[in-house]
Amino acid sequence: MNIAKDWKDYEIIDMADGEKLERWNNIKLIRPDPQIIWKDKLFPNEWKKANAIYKRSSNGGGGWSYNSKLPQSWQVKYKELTFNIKPMGFKHTGLFPEQAVNWDWMINKIKNAKRPIKVLNLFAYTGGASVACLYAGASVCHVDSSKGMVSWAKENVISSKLQDKPIRYIVDDVIKFVKREIRRENKYDAIIMDPPSYGRGASRRGMAI
Ligand SMILES: C[S@@+](CC[C@H](N)C(=O)[O-])C[C@H]1O[C@@H](n2cnc3c(N)ncnc32)[C@H](O)[C@@H]1O
Repeated sequence: MNIAKDWKDYEIIDMADGEKLERWNNIKLIRPDPQIIWKDKLFPNEWKKANAIYKRSSNGGGGWSYNSKLPQSWQVKYKELTFNIKPMGFKHTGLFPEQAVNWDWMINKIKNAKRPIKVLNLFAYTGGASVACLYAGASVCHVDSSKGMVSWAKENVISSKLQDKPIRYIVDDVIKFVKREIRRENKYDAIIMDPPSYGRGASRRGMAI
């Protein structure tokens, strides 16, 4: 497994008892993580400084409780990429920081290709990979069925100052879009797929995920 170790604006400060304490720029969040099975905190005092905590409820949902007033959104930088962070439902913040190793891998591949690269990013979410590929010089087709996520991806492209680069945003079901692209005989050099464990599109029963 490759570790995302080049972050400056993000760090995991501590992990214990099914929760992790993270720093997102200057804001500290506590979020549940079922993989954290050990009990003891290394830095118990640091946990008291968290700005917000996401607590799961017994019915499977959950919500944020705030120890201090947070901005509606704030930014974290990864190298030259800038992402907008917002505490959302399902403990999400709009970014998977562990993906940074994959962004670096993609950037490296695209830059070393020495030819124009067309990337299709499926289940593209808030556009972490789209931003990285655009930055590296690729043209990107960004597909997600959630209009809100596509708007958020546009914000990330703008905050990374890549709005003049070639990106096409598609709000659609991945299966429907891919079928259309096959009919149109559109080809890509690279396809990124990071599907969730549940589908949102009309044809989700057809998805092997
Ligand atoms: C887990 S996120 C992907 C994370 C992303 N690759 C990243 O690293 O930032 C899954 C995304 O898939 C989208 N999605 C789920 N089912 C979909 C479908 N059938 N068609 C298109 N997008 C879908 C959701 O809206 C969500 O934004």
